[in-house]
Amino acid sequence: MTAADAPTWTARVGNPYLHGIHGPVVHETTAIDLEVEGELPADLYGAYVRNGPNQVYEPTNPYHWFDGDGMVHGLYFRDGRLDYRSRFVRTDGLADEVRQGRAIWPGVMGPFDFEKPRHYLKDTANTDLVWHDGHLLATWYLCGTPYRLDPLTLDDRGKADFGGKLTTTVSAHPKVDERTGELVYFTLAEFEPPYMTYGVVSKDGELVHQTPIDLPGARDPHELNITEHYSILHDFPFFHDVEVLRKHGYRVTRFDRSLPSRFGVIPRRGTNEQVRWFEFEPGYVLHMVNAWEEGDWIVIDGCFQPDPTIVAERGKGPLTSMLAYLRVRAHLHRWRMNLETGETWEGPLDDLNVEFCLPDTNLYGVKTRYSYHQYLPEDMVTVDFRALVKYDHEDGSAVRYDYPDGWHGSESPFAPRLGATGEDGGYVVTLMMNVAEARSECWVFAAQQIEKGPIAKAKLPTRVPSGFHARWVPGDRIF
Ligand SMILES: [Fe+2]
Repeated sequence: MTAADAPTWTARVGNPYLHGIHGPVVHETTAIDLEVEGELPADLYGAYVRNGPNQVYEPTNPYHWFDGDGMVHGLYFRDGRLDYRSRFVRTDGLADEVRQGRAIWPGVMGPFDFEKPRHYLKDTANTDLVWHDGHLLATWYLCGTPYRLDPLTLDDRGKADFGGKLTTTVSAHPKVDERTGELVYFTLAEFEPPYMTYGVVSKDGELVHQTPIDLPGARDPHELNITEHYSILHDFPFFHDVEVLRKHGYRVTRFDRSLPSRFGVIPRRGTNEQVRWFEFEPGYVLHMVNAWEEGDWIVIDGCFQPDPTIVAERGKGPLTSMLAYLRVRAHLHRWRMNLETGETWEGPLDDLNVEFCLPDTNLYGVKTRYSYHQYLPEDMVTVDFRALVKYDHEDGSAVRYDYPDGWHGSESPFAPRLGATGEDGGYVVTLMMNVAEARSECWVFAAQQIEKGPIAKAKLPTRVPSGFHARWVPGDRIF
């Protein structure tokens, strides 16, 4: 059944990423002073912002979760009250399609058309959000233009060009070092070297460093990490076949178990010649929790997929390959690299299937003890977050809150309370969806007692489709 606030064309497209928790909505919303069950803490001051796909026009080829037009949802907390806004990211691609009144680009399932403007896929900026230099930056996982939004109104502020010096695209998952204010990013090239470019943007929004990085070929890492003095570049043996992409217009990703996973440690403003590569067991990682330095060691904790192979299941019909495209089997894992001796160590911290992991993002680059993850059931058909899991990285122990039947979660950032002391002194905020009732709520958990369930729930006046990345932005950066 198609929800009443979904685009009418979705009724004729039988694709699970266009219905249920994934179904797009037709409207942008502004809502002031939402109805709350329980009590919103007075010391919760700031905004939960989340990016995600919200497809506007009927797709021209099989639709995938990654394809939808970027829409940002903001939940604004101050004085014990809560406002909500949602706005599309005003990308060039969406503007072109609005002018023509139809979809122009195919989606990630292909086939692609290299004659399309700008890129064979639409740069939707639908993946990630980060606050930097007074703006929210919306970015895309296949590397595109960073689009700037007003953190309070979510109004379009145009494209980021970092002082007119940006000459490349930017991948999703740039990291902000809250001690220096720097934004650290990478981007990828699919056909020609340099296959990776690494860069640093100053606190004031000016590009101050950029260097090409040598890779053995085109690669598909999803993010990078920072420590106090270094950045960590990723090279996993799970990447697309360039010749297939070029000749046939499909992005076919393969896992080469004969190659290692590699992390490249580069001084914050270092060059390609200064990168030290460390080798580990083959696999893939979408998202790391954090990285930090311990003496000569660099430690990285993240959600490791030892076998990212796409396994097509029988009996699910023509959408089988699409549904198999995002089968996440990830566990919390630790990697250690010694910069003095070259020694390495790695091992699991737990075996639960978790992803969309966040520490207190103000602490990216320094040692963190806690992180907040989404639990993914092994038997899920589409991506579906079914529990909030809090990890203690000192001993790998976890506490969890299983979402009630019918409720589905979003990435859940930590929000420090005003004047907080202690790493988990604050709240965890998330967006929840109820499919049967076609509605959404914002839930607030006490970070030290997430297993007890939400301490406050606010009713949203609209459904919010499932999304990608969320961040907490402190109030003094917004209001
Ligand atoms: Fe991501």
